Amino acid sequence: MPSHLFSPFRLRGLELANRIVVSPMAQYVAEEGCAGPWHLVHLGNMSISGAGLLIIEATAVERDARLSPGDLGLWSDENEAALAPIIAFCRKHGAACIGLQLQHAGRKGSVTVAWEKQRHIPRDQGGWPVRSSDGIPYPGLALPTALDRAMIAQLVQSYGAAARRADRLGIDLIEIHSAHGYLLHNFLSPLSNQRQDEYGGDREGRMRFVLEVFQAVRETWPGHKPIGVRISASDWTEGGWTLDDSVALAQRLKALGCDYITASSGGAVPEQRIAIGPGYQVPFAERIRREAGIATMAVGLITEPRQAEAILASASADLIALGRGMLYNPRWPWHAAEELGEEAFYPPPYERAHPSMRRGDFFKIARQS
Ligand SMILES: Cc1cc2nc3c(=O)[nH]c(=O)nc-3n(C[C@H](O)[C@H](O)[C@H](O)COP(=O)(O)O)c2cc1C
Repeated sequence: MPSHLFSPFRLRGLELANRIVVSPMAQYVAEEGCAGPWHLVHLGNMSISGAGLLIIEATAVERDARLSPGDLGLWSDENEAALAPIIAFCRKHGAACIGLQLQHAGRKGSVTVAWEKQRHIPRDQGGWPVRSSDGIPYPGLALPTALDRAMIAQLVQSYGAAARRADRLGIDLIEIHSAHGYLLHNFLSPLSNQRQDEYGGDREGRMRFVLEVFQAVRETWPGHKPIGVRISASDWTEGGWTLDDSVALAQRLKALGCDYITASSGGAVPEQRIAIGPGYQVPFAERIRREAGIATMAVGLITEPRQAEAILASASADLIALGRGMLYNPRWPWHAAEELGEEAFYPPPYERAHPSMRRGDFFKIARQS
Protein backbone atom coordinates (compact mmCIF):
# COMPACT_ATOMS: atom_id res chain seq x y z
CA MET A 1 0.00 0.00 0.00
CA PRO A 2 1.40 3.45 -0.85
CA SER A 3 2.48 5.45 2.18
CA HIS A 4 0.82 8.61 3.38
CA LEU A 5 4.17 10.36 3.75
CA PHE A 6 4.98 10.02 0.07
CA SER A 7 1.52 10.80 -1.25
CA PRO A 8 1.11 14.16 -3.03
CA PHE A 9 -0.74 17.05 -1.44
CA ARG A 10 -2.45 19.96 -3.14
CA LEU A 11 -2.71 23.48 -1.72
CA ARG A 12 -4.59 25.67 -4.23
CA GLY A 13 -2.58 25.45 -7.48
CA LEU A 14 0.48 23.97 -5.79
CA GLU A 15 1.04 20.23 -5.91
CA LEU A 16 3.57 18.97 -3.36
CA ALA A 17 5.21 15.67 -4.34
CA ASN A 18 5.06 14.39 -0.76
CA ARG A 19 4.19 15.50 2.79
CA ILE A 20 7.73 16.20 4.00
CA VAL A 21 8.44 19.87 4.73
CA VAL A 22 11.75 21.47 5.64
CA SER A 23 10.67 23.69 8.55
CA PRO A 24 11.74 27.34 8.35
CA MET A 25 15.05 27.73 10.16
CA ALA A 26 16.73 31.09 10.70
CA GLN A 27 20.41 30.91 9.76
CA TYR A 28 21.42 34.32 11.16
CA VAL A 29 24.10 34.88 8.53
CA ALA A 30 22.40 37.43 6.27
CA GLU A 31 23.93 40.90 5.89
CA GLU A 32 21.49 43.83 5.92
CA GLY A 33 18.83 41.22 5.17
CA CYS A 34 20.66 39.89 2.10
CA ALA A 35 21.19 36.18 1.56
CA GLY A 36 24.74 35.07 0.77
CA PRO A 37 26.79 31.98 -0.08
CA TRP A 38 25.69 30.14 3.08
CA HIS A 39 22.08 30.40 1.96
CA LEU A 40 22.98 29.04 -1.45
CA VAL A 41 24.60 25.99 0.13
CA HIS A 42 21.94 25.53 2.84
CA LEU A 43 18.84 26.10 0.72
CA GLY A 44 20.39 24.45 -2.33
CA ASN A 45 21.09 21.37 -0.25
CA MET A 46 17.56 21.30 1.19
CA SER A 47 16.03 21.76 -2.28
CA ILE A 48 17.66 18.52 -3.49
CA SER A 49 16.76 16.61 -0.30
CA GLY A 50 13.62 14.99 -1.66
CA ALA A 51 11.30 17.00 0.62
CA GLY A 52 8.08 18.17 -1.03
CA LEU A 53 8.32 21.68 0.40
CA LEU A 54 11.18 23.83 1.64
CA ILE A 55 10.17 26.88 3.67
CA ILE A 56 12.81 29.62 3.72
CA GLU A 57 13.58 30.98 7.18
CA ALA A 58 11.84 33.84 9.02
CA THR A 59 12.29 36.80 6.67
CA ALA A 60 11.90 40.33 8.02
CA VAL A 61 9.30 42.51 6.31
CA GLU A 62 11.11 45.70 7.40
CA ARG A 63 14.64 46.40 8.57
CA ASP A 64 13.37 47.01 12.11
CA ALA A 65 11.39 43.77 11.96
CA ARG A 66 14.57 41.73 12.34
CA LEU A 67 15.31 39.64 15.40
CA SER A 68 19.08 39.87 14.93
CA PRO A 69 21.53 41.58 12.57
CA GLY A 70 21.85 38.24 10.73
CA ASP A 71 18.16 37.89 9.85
CA LEU A 72 17.13 37.43 6.26
CA GLY A 73 14.93 40.25 4.94
CA LEU A 74 12.72 41.15 2.02
CA TRP A 75 12.30 44.89 2.50
CA SER A 76 14.66 46.17 -0.21
CA ASP A 77 15.62 45.69 -3.87
CA GLU A 78 19.01 44.45 -2.65
CA ASN A 79 17.35 41.76 -0.49
CA GLU A 80 15.28 40.64 -3.44
CA ALA A 81 18.26 40.56 -5.83
CA ALA A 82 20.35 38.54 -3.36
CA LEU A 83 17.73 35.79 -3.10
CA ALA A 84 17.14 35.52 -6.86
CA PRO A 85 20.18 33.35 -7.82
CA ILE A 86 19.55 31.07 -4.84
CA ILE A 87 15.96 30.47 -5.89
CA ALA A 88 17.22 29.92 -9.45
CA PHE A 89 19.61 27.21 -8.21
CA CYS A 90 16.86 25.50 -6.23
CA ARG A 91 14.60 25.54 -9.29
CA LYS A 92 17.27 24.25 -11.66
CA HIS A 93 18.70 21.47 -9.53
CA GLY A 94 16.14 20.79 -6.80
CA ALA A 95 12.59 19.52 -6.80
CA ALA A 96 11.10 20.94 -3.60
CA CYS A 97 8.42 23.59 -3.87
CA ILE A 98 9.65 26.77 -2.20
CA GLY A 99 7.89 28.66 0.57
CA LEU A 100 9.05 31.71 2.51
CA GLN A 101 8.14 32.79 6.03
CA LEU A 102 7.27 36.45 6.64
CA GLN A 103 8.33 37.78 9.99
CA HIS A 104 8.43 40.66 12.47
CA ALA A 105 10.32 39.87 15.67
CA GLY A 106 8.20 42.17 17.86
CA ARG A 107 9.30 42.55 21.45
CA LYS A 108 12.15 40.06 21.02
CA GLY A 109 13.83 42.21 18.34
CA SER A 110 17.28 43.80 18.29
CA VAL A 111 19.26 40.95 19.82
CA THR A 112 22.52 39.20 18.99
CA VAL A 113 22.42 36.01 16.90
CA ALA A 114 21.47 32.66 18.46
CA TRP A 115 25.03 31.48 19.14
CA GLU A 116 25.77 34.83 20.82
CA LYS A 117 22.94 34.16 23.27
CA GLN A 118 20.35 36.57 21.80
CA ARG A 119 21.36 39.45 24.06
CA HIS A 120 19.78 42.87 23.61
CA ILE A 121 21.66 45.22 21.26
CA PRO A 122 21.12 48.83 22.40
CA ARG A 123 20.46 51.57 19.82
CA ASP A 124 23.92 53.13 20.29
CA GLN A 125 25.54 49.78 19.46
CA GLY A 126 23.74 49.20 16.19
CA GLY A 127 20.37 48.11 17.59
CA TRP A 128 17.00 49.27 16.31
CA PRO A 129 13.63 50.31 17.83
CA VAL A 130 11.75 47.44 19.42
CA ARG A 131 7.98 47.33 18.85
CA SER A 132 5.22 45.24 20.30
CA SER A 133 1.49 45.21 20.83
CA ASP A 134 2.07 46.83 24.18
CA GLY A 135 4.84 48.30 26.32
CA ILE A 136 5.39 45.08 28.27
CA PRO A 137 8.95 43.77 27.77
CA TYR A 138 10.04 40.16 27.39
CA PRO A 139 12.04 39.66 30.60
CA GLY A 140 15.68 40.60 30.07
CA LEU A 141 15.10 42.27 26.72
CA ALA A 142 14.36 45.86 25.61
CA LEU A 143 11.37 47.91 26.66
CA PRO A 144 9.19 47.88 23.53
CA THR A 145 7.09 50.74 22.18
CA ALA A 146 3.45 49.86 21.58
CA LEU A 147 2.53 50.21 17.91
CA ASP A 148 0.05 53.02 17.34
CA ARG A 149 -2.64 52.86 14.65
CA ALA A 150 -0.48 54.58 12.01
CA MET A 151 2.40 52.15 12.65
CA ILE A 152 0.02 49.21 12.48
CA ALA A 153 -1.32 50.40 9.11
CA GLN A 154 2.25 50.89 7.83
CA LEU A 155 3.31 47.42 8.94
CA VAL A 156 0.29 45.77 7.32
CA GLN A 157 1.47 47.46 4.07
CA SER A 158 5.01 46.13 4.62
CA TYR A 159 3.77 42.55 4.86
CA GLY A 160 1.97 43.06 1.54
CA ALA A 161 5.06 44.62 -0.05
CA ALA A 162 7.30 41.75 1.06
CA ALA A 163 4.79 39.25 -0.33
CA ARG A 164 4.91 41.12 -3.67
CA ARG A 165 8.69 40.73 -3.71
CA ALA A 166 8.36 37.03 -2.87
CA ASP A 167 5.96 36.60 -5.76
CA ARG A 168 8.39 38.33 -8.14
CA LEU A 169 11.05 35.87 -6.97
CA GLY A 170 8.80 32.98 -7.96
CA ILE A 171 8.19 31.76 -4.39
CA ASP A 172 5.34 29.21 -4.36
CA LEU A 173 3.92 29.66 -0.85
CA ILE A 174 3.94 32.17 1.98
CA GLU A 175 3.90 31.23 5.65
CA ILE A 176 3.08 34.09 8.04
CA HIS A 177 4.99 33.73 11.29
CA SER A 178 2.54 34.31 14.14
CA ALA A 179 4.28 32.14 16.76
CA HIS A 180 7.19 31.97 19.21
CA GLY A 181 6.68 35.29 20.99
CA TYR A 182 7.24 37.47 17.92
CA LEU A 183 5.10 40.44 16.89
CA LEU A 184 1.89 38.77 15.73
CA HIS A 185 1.98 36.46 18.73
CA ASN A 186 2.59 39.56 20.93
CA PHE A 187 -0.83 40.77 19.78
CA LEU A 188 -2.55 37.40 20.26
CA SER A 189 -1.34 36.58 23.74
CA PRO A 190 -2.97 38.27 26.75
CA LEU A 191 0.41 37.90 28.48
CA SER A 192 1.95 40.49 26.13
CA ASN A 193 -1.14 42.43 24.98
CA GLN A 194 -3.06 44.47 27.53
CA ARG A 195 -4.12 47.21 25.11
CA GLN A 196 -7.41 48.92 25.68
CA ASP A 197 -8.16 49.82 22.05
CA GLU A 198 -9.62 47.69 19.23
CA TYR A 199 -6.32 45.74 18.87
CA GLY A 200 -6.48 44.46 22.45
CA GLY A 201 -8.98 43.40 25.08
CA ASP A 202 -10.92 40.25 24.26
CA ARG A 203 -9.77 37.53 21.87
CA GLU A 204 -11.47 39.22 18.95
CA GLY A 205 -9.49 42.40 19.56
CA ARG A 206 -6.19 40.58 20.04
CA MET A 207 -6.73 38.66 16.78
CA ARG A 208 -7.47 41.84 14.75
CA PHE A 209 -3.89 42.65 13.72
CA VAL A 210 -3.09 39.08 12.64
CA LEU A 211 -6.26 38.94 10.56
CA GLU A 212 -5.45 42.31 8.96
CA VAL A 213 -1.94 41.14 8.09
CA PHE A 214 -3.34 37.94 6.64
CA GLN A 215 -5.85 39.86 4.52
CA ALA A 216 -3.16 42.22 3.20
CA VAL A 217 -0.96 39.31 2.16
CA ARG A 218 -3.90 37.41 0.69
CA GLU A 219 -4.88 40.45 -1.39
CA THR A 220 -1.34 40.82 -2.75
CA TRP A 221 -0.47 37.16 -3.18
CA PRO A 222 -1.77 35.51 -6.38
CA GLY A 223 -4.99 33.55 -5.92
CA HIS A 224 -3.48 30.27 -7.11
CA LYS A 225 -0.70 30.38 -4.51
CA PRO A 226 -1.25 29.14 -0.94
CA ILE A 227 -0.69 30.96 2.36
CA GLY A 228 -0.28 29.28 5.72
CA VAL A 229 0.06 30.71 9.22
CA ARG A 230 2.37 29.36 11.91
CA ILE A 231 0.95 29.82 15.37
CA SER A 232 1.93 29.01 18.90
CA ALA A 233 -1.10 26.86 19.65
CA SER A 234 -0.52 27.25 23.38
CA ASP A 235 1.49 29.57 25.60
CA TRP A 236 1.87 26.70 28.11
CA THR A 237 1.22 29.29 30.82
CA GLU A 238 -1.79 30.09 32.94
CA GLY A 239 -3.59 33.16 31.66
CA GLY A 240 -1.98 32.81 28.22
CA TRP A 241 -3.16 31.94 24.69
CA THR A 242 -4.81 28.51 24.62
CA LEU A 243 -5.66 25.72 22.20
CA ASP A 244 -9.31 26.86 22.28
CA ASP A 245 -8.11 30.29 21.13
CA SER A 246 -6.08 28.63 18.38
CA VAL A 247 -9.11 26.75 17.07
CA ALA A 248 -11.05 30.03 16.97
CA LEU A 249 -8.18 31.81 15.16
CA ALA A 250 -7.86 28.96 12.65
CA GLN A 251 -11.58 29.19 11.90
CA ARG A 252 -11.30 32.94 11.26
CA LEU A 253 -8.18 32.51 9.10
CA LYS A 254 -9.79 29.73 7.12
CA ALA A 255 -12.76 32.00 6.33
CA LEU A 256 -10.28 34.57 4.97
CA GLY A 257 -8.66 32.02 2.65
CA CYS A 258 -5.87 30.55 4.78
CA ASP A 259 -4.72 27.20 3.41
CA TYR A 260 -3.02 25.61 6.40
CA ILE A 261 -1.99 26.16 10.00
CA THR A 262 1.38 25.07 11.40
CA ALA A 263 0.84 24.09 15.00
CA SER A 264 3.93 25.12 16.94
CA SER A 265 3.82 26.39 20.52
CA GLY A 266 5.44 28.49 23.21
CA GLY A 267 7.79 31.45 23.15
CA ALA A 268 5.51 34.06 24.74
CA VAL A 269 7.04 34.14 28.21
CA PRO A 270 9.99 32.47 29.96
CA GLU A 271 7.69 30.97 32.66
CA GLN A 272 6.17 28.54 30.13
CA ARG A 273 6.12 24.88 31.15
CA ILE A 274 6.32 22.84 27.97
CA ALA A 275 5.57 19.11 28.16
CA ILE A 276 8.27 18.19 25.69
CA GLY A 277 8.63 14.77 24.03
CA PRO A 278 8.36 13.06 20.65
CA GLY A 279 5.64 14.70 18.54
CA TYR A 280 4.58 16.84 21.51
CA GLN A 281 2.75 19.40 19.36
CA VAL A 282 0.87 16.86 17.21
CA PRO A 283 -2.27 16.95 19.43
CA PHE A 284 -2.53 20.69 18.64
CA ALA A 285 -2.39 20.01 14.88
CA GLU A 286 -4.98 17.26 15.30
CA ARG A 287 -7.54 19.34 17.16
CA ILE A 288 -7.16 22.41 14.97
CA ARG A 289 -7.53 20.21 11.88
CA ARG A 290 -10.62 18.49 13.22
CA GLU A 291 -12.43 21.46 14.74
CA ALA A 292 -11.51 24.21 12.26
CA GLY A 293 -11.63 21.95 9.20
CA ILE A 294 -8.31 23.28 7.91
CA ALA A 295 -5.15 21.49 6.77
CA THR A 296 -2.44 21.38 9.40
CA MET A 297 1.31 21.00 9.45
CA ALA A 298 2.68 19.10 12.44
CA VAL A 299 6.12 20.06 13.74
CA GLY A 300 8.32 19.42 16.75
CA LEU A 301 10.41 16.34 17.56
CA ILE A 302 9.15 14.32 14.64
CA THR A 303 12.26 12.36 13.83
CA GLU A 304 11.33 8.89 12.54
CA PRO A 305 9.73 8.00 9.19
CA ARG A 306 7.23 5.61 10.80
CA GLN A 307 6.34 8.24 13.41
CA ALA A 308 5.63 10.70 10.59
CA GLU A 309 3.63 8.07 8.72
CA ALA A 310 1.53 7.30 11.82
CA ILE A 311 0.71 11.00 12.34
CA LEU A 312 -0.63 11.24 8.79
CA ALA A 313 -2.38 7.85 8.93
CA SER A 314 -4.26 8.88 12.08
CA ALA A 315 -5.45 12.07 10.32
CA SER A 316 -3.71 14.24 12.93
CA ALA A 317 -2.08 16.43 10.27
CA ASP A 318 -1.65 16.80 6.52
CA LEU A 319 2.01 17.77 6.41
CA ILE A 320 5.06 16.93 8.50
CA ALA A 321 7.71 19.59 9.06
CA LEU A 322 11.18 18.68 10.24
CA GLY A 323 13.65 21.23 11.56
CA ARG A 324 16.65 19.89 13.43
CA GLY A 325 16.15 16.46 11.90
CA MET A 326 16.87 17.91 8.46
CA LEU A 327 19.98 19.73 9.65
CA TYR A 328 21.21 16.53 11.27
CA ASN A 329 20.43 14.41 8.25
CA PRO A 330 19.58 16.36 5.08
CA ARG A 331 18.99 13.02 3.34
CA TRP A 332 16.15 12.19 5.75
CA PRO A 333 13.59 11.98 2.91
CA TRP A 334 15.78 9.49 1.01
CA HIS A 335 16.11 7.30 4.08
CA ALA A 336 12.39 7.58 4.81
CA ALA A 337 11.60 6.54 1.24
CA GLU A 338 13.87 3.52 1.60
CA GLU A 339 12.24 2.54 4.90
CA LEU A 340 8.70 2.91 3.56
CA GLY A 341 9.38 1.30 0.16
CA GLU A 342 8.85 4.56 -1.70
CA GLU A 343 10.75 6.80 -4.10
CA ALA A 344 12.06 10.31 -3.49
CA PHE A 345 13.68 12.81 -5.84
CA TYR A 346 17.42 12.39 -6.46
CA PRO A 347 19.21 15.06 -8.50
CA PRO A 348 20.91 13.44 -11.53
CA PRO A 349 24.49 13.98 -10.29
CA TYR A 350 23.61 11.99 -7.13
CA GLU A 351 21.49 9.29 -8.77
CA ARG A 352 24.14 6.65 -8.32
CA ALA A 353 23.80 6.97 -4.56
CA HIS A 354 20.33 5.40 -4.75
CA PRO A 355 20.26 2.09 -2.84
CA SER A 356 19.15 0.20 -5.95
CA MET A 357 22.49 1.13 -7.52
CA ARG A 358 24.23 -0.98 -4.89
CA ARG A 359 22.65 -4.02 -6.45
CA GLY A 360 24.71 -4.03 -9.66
CA ASP A 361 23.04 -1.41 -11.87
CA PHE A 362 25.74 0.98 -10.73
CA PHE A 363 28.35 -0.76 -12.88
CA LYS A 364 26.12 -0.59 -15.93
CA ILE A 365 25.80 3.17 -15.51
CA ALA A 366 29.41 3.60 -14.41
CA ARG A 367 30.62 2.01 -17.62
CA GLN A 368 28.43 4.29 -19.67
CA SER A 369 29.81 7.51 -18.23
C1 LIG B 1 18.31 26.58 13.80
C2 LIG B 1 16.83 26.78 13.94
C3 LIG B 1 16.25 27.93 13.44
C4 LIG B 1 14.86 28.11 13.51
N1 LIG B 1 14.29 29.19 12.92
C5 LIG B 1 12.94 29.25 12.79
C6 LIG B 1 12.34 30.22 11.97
O1 LIG B 1 13.00 30.99 11.26
N2 LIG B 1 10.97 30.25 11.94
C7 LIG B 1 10.20 29.38 12.66
O2 LIG B 1 8.98 29.47 12.62
N3 LIG B 1 10.77 28.42 13.42
C8 LIG B 1 12.10 28.32 13.48
N4 LIG B 1 12.68 27.30 14.17
C9 LIG B 1 11.81 26.26 14.74
C10 LIG B 1 11.68 25.09 13.75
O3 LIG B 1 11.09 25.49 12.53
C11 LIG B 1 10.84 23.94 14.35
O4 LIG B 1 9.54 24.38 14.58
C12 LIG B 1 11.45 23.46 15.67
O5 LIG B 1 12.85 23.28 15.55
C13 LIG B 1 10.81 22.13 16.12
O6 LIG B 1 10.94 21.15 15.12
P1 LIG B 1 12.13 20.03 15.18
O7 LIG B 1 11.96 19.29 16.48
O8 LIG B 1 11.87 19.17 13.96
O9 LIG B 1 13.43 20.75 15.10
C14 LIG B 1 14.06 27.13 14.15
C15 LIG B 1 14.66 26.00 14.70
C16 LIG B 1 16.03 25.81 14.58
C17 LIG B 1 16.63 24.54 15.13
